[in-house]
Amino acid sequence: MARDPLHDGHGRRISDLRVSVTDRCNFRCQYCMPAEGLPWLERAEVLSFEETERLVRVMAEMGVETLRLTGGEPLVRRDFPTLAGLLTRIPGLDEVSITTNGFLLERDAAALVAAGIDRFNVSVDSLQRDRFYEQTRRDALPRVLAGLEHLASFPEAHPIKVNAVAIRGFTEQEALPFARFAREHPYEVRFIEYMPLDGDRSWKPDQVLSGAEIHAAIHAVYPLEDAVRDPHATARVHRFADGKGKIGFINPVSEPFCDDCNRLRLTADGRLRTCLFSLNETDLRGPLRAGATDDDLEALIRGAVWAKELKHRVNDPGFVQPARTMSAIGG
Ligand code: 5AD
Ligand code: SF4
Repeated sequence: MARDPLHDGHGRRISDLRVSVTDRCNFRCQYCMPAEGLPWLERAEVLSFEETERLVRVMAEMGVETLRLTGGEPLVRRDFPTLAGLLTRIPGLDEVSITTNGFLLERDAAALVAAGIDRFNVSVDSLQRDRFYEQTRRDALPRVLAGLEHLASFPEAHPIKVNAVAIRGFTEQEALPFARFAREHPYEVRFIEYMPLDGDRSWKPDQVLSGAEIHAAIHAVYPLEDAVRDPHATARVHRFADGKGKIGFINPVSEPFCDDCNRLRLTADGRLRTCLFSLNETDLRGPLRAGATDDDLEALIRGAVWAKELKHRVNDPGFVQPARTMSAIGG
């Protein structure tokens, strides 16, 4: 069934949805979760496969075309490849992708590719084992790299992206190793500016290592061509001038891309968020469980989207960090 396209009150058409399938994670990245973890959602609070499928289907009927599954860590959700297979079959979705920390890819890559997942983003913050451990609080670099290599053995999984959060005082040393990594492997490495969504609430503006700074450091050694940024794509992607590989920069803090944001987020407990930094959410799980029809859900979603924030206020003096951290929102 086709429904009217989803528009916000600022003239943007919404066509991209991120669904967090669990708030749990097997890592404790410094920029995301406290060392002791977070109080996890109760099982009954998390949307069932059927509930998730229904909400995504209604949004696909309203013009959502691309879906990304996130967490927490999506692969720790029990039977996640089964859920992935249900979602990739929804009519209207052109692309279904996953953001993962890679720890369980050796176990699950084959099942996820078979379930129809089109693209994978794997988070890797350092290529040195001790520094990876420092950042993620798990000594897991060898296993993550093995997972990545296993994933790369599936032609359908390409192009594969590797994401590194860029933090001042940490990531400077990673720039050239990642540049070499991107030149030697079939992966597009992207640096993401550190955003105020950390569990410890210790983010400070001066900890943001900008994409421009990393670009300059890499360009001085391995010259880069000018960037291309497709409409709605968040990354500026540069080819190396000698044609060997690509590197990308996602600069939400230094160069916000809110103007053409086409994105919507659904949390694991069924709340709709219209911005990473939203201070309010729309509960869809309550109405869903109380017997709402698809038309009722459509009206709720349309109302929430109409009020989508114009832009984030990370760089404004009165900025307030949302109560949820990245792991509970879904990157
Ligand atoms: N700032 C920027 N990126 C973050 N991620 C998690 N927390 C933050 C943050 N505070 C990224 C992870 C992963 C994705 C899920 O979100 O590295 O790539
Ligand atoms: Fe887990 Fe991803 Fe958060 Fe790291 S960034 S703790 S891998 S959810």
